[in-house]
Amino acid sequence: MEVVIKESYEQMSALGAEIVARIVRNKPRSVLGLATGSTPLGIYRELIRMHKDEGLSFFQVVTFNLDEYIGLPPEHPQSYRYFINQNLLDHINVKKENTYLPDGMAENIELACIEYEKKIEEAGGIDLQILGIGSNGHIAFNEPGSSLGSRTRIETLSEETIQNNSRFFPCRENVPRHAITMGIGTIMDARELILLANGEEKAGAVASMIEGPITAMVPATVVQLHRKTTVIVERAAAGRLSRCYPGELQVIRMNRDTK
Ligand code: PGA
Repeated sequence: MEVVIKESYEQMSALGAEIVARIVRNKPRSVLGLATGSTPLGIYRELIRMHKDEGLSFFQVVTFNLDEYIGLPPEHPQSYRYFINQNLLDHINVKKENTYLPDGMAENIELACIEYEKKIEEAGGIDLQILGIGSNGHIAFNEPGSSLGSRTRIETLSEETIQNNSRFFPCRENVPRHAITMGIGTIMDARELILLANGEEKAGAVASMIEGPITAMVPATVVQLHRKTTVIVERAAAGRLSRCYPGELQVIRMNRDTK
């Protein structure tokens, strides 16, 4: 695991976008794992800019989102399909039929989960998965206590997650209680991970993820075991780390990789 601390949200996002762009340039048929929430918005803005200004093409790219609420149709403004279309997919040249999210409206949720795993496998597996982290240490909707080997499944949202996500809904009561999420095992199968965190409210979860023992009670700690993970942390979210981490090492190495 490589940890890179950046001074600002913009710098964190720029490095995240550069890693995504490197993958897409090296392999035009890349399979990208996408995340929702406020953390990756800066990456998506930068990717849209790279598409428009620099001709970065997503024409052959396939995408899989981490999760989706159960019971919200795709046209619902708080559904993750709506979010990812609005904030990324509608503004780049990806083919919409190559973009997937778990089906939160499926009649048979269990079957939909199995099919989602199958689709990822048929696409050749995920080349790069983008991740955020919850203030309770969750990744995707894998809440504390999730099995570290879990696959795509239905998950009940924790009270903390419902509270955190209520900022996107008219009131707390409107936040769905259940979601379909890629499992921790599914995420760990991705060939590369980038995990981003910003804001003081993430500092405790970030310290546990990087320096704490691996435990299902802080699902993000599992990324310590992944063979290729870059954790990009903005200064405030790094506030409770006890060791020193490089600021620019990743950039130097990336430049060397792309030569
Ligand atoms: P956020 O959510 O990006 O909106 O902070 C991250 C998460 O809960 O995984």
